[in-house]
Amino acid sequence: MRKIDLFDTTLRDGEQSAGINLNTVEKLEIARQLEKLGVAVIEAGFPASSPGDFEAVQRIANTVKNSTVTGLARAMKNDIDISWEALRGGEQPHIHVFLATSPIHMEYKLKKSPDEVVDIAVDAVKYAKQYFPLVQWSAEDAFRSDKEYLVRIINKVIEAGATTINVPDTVGYATPAEYGALFKYLKENVRGVEKVKLSAHCHDDLGMAVANSIAAVENGADQVECTINGIGERAGNAALEEIAVAMHIRKDFYNMETGINLKEIKKASQLVSRLTGVVIQPNKAVVGKNAFAHESGIHQDGMLKNRETYEIITPELIGETDIPLALGKHSGRAAFKDRAMTMGFELTDQQLNEAFDDFKKLADRKKEITEDDLFVLFTGQQLAD
Ligand code: KIV
Ligand code: ZN
Repeated sequence: MRKIDLFDTTLRDGEQSAGINLNTVEKLEIARQLEKLGVAVIEAGFPASSPGDFEAVQRIANTVKNSTVTGLARAMKNDIDISWEALRGGEQPHIHVFLATSPIHMEYKLKKSPDEVVDIAVDAVKYAKQYFPLVQWSAEDAFRSDKEYLVRIINKVIEAGATTINVPDTVGYATPAEYGALFKYLKENVRGVEKVKLSAHCHDDLGMAVANSIAAVENGADQVECTINGIGERAGNAALEEIAVAMHIRKDFYNMETGINLKEIKKASQLVSRLTGVVIQPNKAVVGKNAFAHESGIHQDGMLKNRETYEIITPELIGETDIPLALGKHSGRAAFKDRAMTMGFELTDQQLNEAFDDFKKLADRKKEITEDDLFVLFTGQQLAD
């Protein structure tokens, strides 16, 4: 099986979500959980961006032992010097240097010609390489860059010593077929590509970040960058839990593995939601409150007969405790009876029928039927006799 490294950027790109601000203690708690999860790389922050981020990255680099810790830096000596101070205590010092390569970014943001951008990137990678054994270089807005120019600049930064090349879809503009084709093109045209890791980094502006990441992997990417719960700039980044679970559930198809300890996913998701204050949408794949909630009578009946009728992921896989079938106005008698028994009520057929009629009337009025509601319905029947 091919090993795909997951590079988690919850603490850097994830923290770039509007309204999120994590302090050092909170970042450290998340980093420890990411280490338990088994991510290959933790991007702990952007050391030159603030003294607080510097401190957090340094603490994480000095604490985490089983994942590589990195920090983001612009292609500038000062950013690289500061990053070295923050990251030098790590097991395997790793830096992530980025520079934009798309025509619009080079002309309007950097105000540099394509040749000047090549020189800046090469100088930055050479400078970083004096300190760091592992240097990741990102071509910001790679997806909207000229493909031949991308090959030219990537050839040069590999010669300069980069060990990972990241190819971001910075604005979430790609479709899976196009993003996959870009990786195929780079694999076929970059000199010495087999000596470096190729990395995918996708944003979710068009809702395709996970699909694009997987298309990249199918076309040769060795690493995927992602965040817990998919938090990140604007519409967010590719969601780690979705990528890890998809590759696991469909391993027969992909023949790849991420090395993620799936049982730690639920805990990681809840921790990130609690510390960032970003609520997880109920229907979010894998970690949403309703991800394992089967409500309709037909589905519940199938589930009670054989869970595989409607369940491709078990809650236990991601460290979720078994979730009882959701009871609402679409639910059927089988699930209702099953819940009565699980709650310890032994009702006659007639008691059950009456309780079920009352339940349906209540479900028409109330959005969510709670355990307390059911308790009242079941005990009401028992006391009536
Ligand atoms: O989206 C992006 O291009 C980034 C880079 C800094 C890697 O986050
Ligand atoms: Zn990004």
